[in-house]
Amino acid sequence: MKCQHLLVTGGAGFIGSNFVRQVLANNEDVRITNLDALTYCATLTSLADVAKEHGPDGSGRYIFVEGDIRDGELITRLLEDDSNGRIDAILNFAAWSHVDRAILNPLEFVDTNVTGTAVLLDCARKAFEGRFDETRFLQVSTDEVYGALQADDPEFTETTLLEPNSPYSASKAGAEQLVRSYNRTFGLPVLTTRCSNNYGPYQFPEKLIPLIISRAMADKPLPVYGDGKNIRDWLHVEDHCQAIWRVLNDGRVGEIYNIGGNSEVYNIDMVKKILAILDKPESLITFVTDRLGHDLRYAVNISKIENELGWTPSVDLDTGLTDTVRWYTDNTEWWFPLLGESETTMKKLYTGNKG
Ligand SMILES: NC(=O)c1ccc[n+]([C@@H]2O[C@H](COP(=O)([O-])OP(=O)(O)OC[C@H]3O[C@@H](n4cnc5c(N)ncnc54)[C@H](O)[C@@H]3O)[C@@H](O)[C@H]2O)c1
Repeated sequence: MKCQHLLVTGGAGFIGSNFVRQVLANNEDVRITNLDALTYCATLTSLADVAKEHGPDGSGRYIFVEGDIRDGELITRLLEDDSNGRIDAILNFAAWSHVDRAILNPLEFVDTNVTGTAVLLDCARKAFEGRFDETRFLQVSTDEVYGALQADDPEFTETTLLEPNSPYSASKAGAEQLVRSYNRTFGLPVLTTRCSNNYGPYQFPEKLIPLIISRAMADKPLPVYGDGKNIRDWLHVEDHCQAIWRVLNDGRVGEIYNIGGNSEVYNIDMVKKILAILDKPESLITFVTDRLGHDLRYAVNISKIENELGWTPSVDLDTGLTDTVRWYTDNTEWWFPLLGESETTMKKLYTGNKG
């Protein structure tokens, strides 16, 4: 089936804004309602071009609603509004997503990531009743729900036991269990994706890659946790968005799909790659006390989505990283205004004040 009116939650964040832009550009018959609470990491400037081209004064296929996924009344109103064709799919990107912040304030993560998902599911169950054949609920989750791998362990598959280690990953795992339960108990047509680390344009400058780019550009010390030997698998955000679109429309209801880039890199090597692209010295690297409960390695086996849905990552890491660094150097007006908040958290983390 092809979903045509999407409720995207968290669409003013990093992945959600890339998804909104990509789907509207590639599908002339799709409309999107973007619901976002505009937390510290969200900015509508990420979608200013989209709002101009597709908002009420443009193609009319995009509207933004400021609001919270925990607000059941608002969600129900949006789902029952048929003035512009009823919403037939919910994609839940909204979450508190930064592991370091989850260490500072775990309950905030439980509140939005678990309770918020529960509210959305319950509104969907009621609004989609009688239309389960024509509706979908897609939960955007993370490979971090699996916990950590040792260096030589095989990659996570969709049947690997969930052993989340941080309040962030535990809250995402909790949300996933609710998603599963709404399918098994009520028949809600759900799908879940578990993706590895994303990089690309419009990522808030507290996450590793934009943090390193923004600080290196200013010749500031680059904090690297522990010995830098943690391993992450990296996927370009546009590949992630294409995978989500494929799962939404062609995935089997009730199933979980891993999404990844087959690009495992030590954190320290990622920092060195960025320094090389920017032509900055490695002497900027400063090792800092390791993150509490820092997972050593994540890596996902993606054969299920490759074999069933024919999706495979298309952006090679070195090319995607070079393009991303160029995007940040060319778009300082997007991220400069966001730096204050990111610096405040950094100070709390790297002065030993774990809150
Ligand atoms: N970034 C990654 O590498 C990655 C990898 C795998 C999965 N994910 C998942 O993808 C999703 C999006 O991640 P991201 O990196 O774009 O995160 P982000 O932090 O950039 O964006 C999250 C968005 O959710 C919004 N939001 C937060 N609480 C809300 C609430 N209560 N109601 C409505 N909106 C709210 C924020 O304002 C923000 O716009 C998350 O669910 C995350 O767990 C991220």
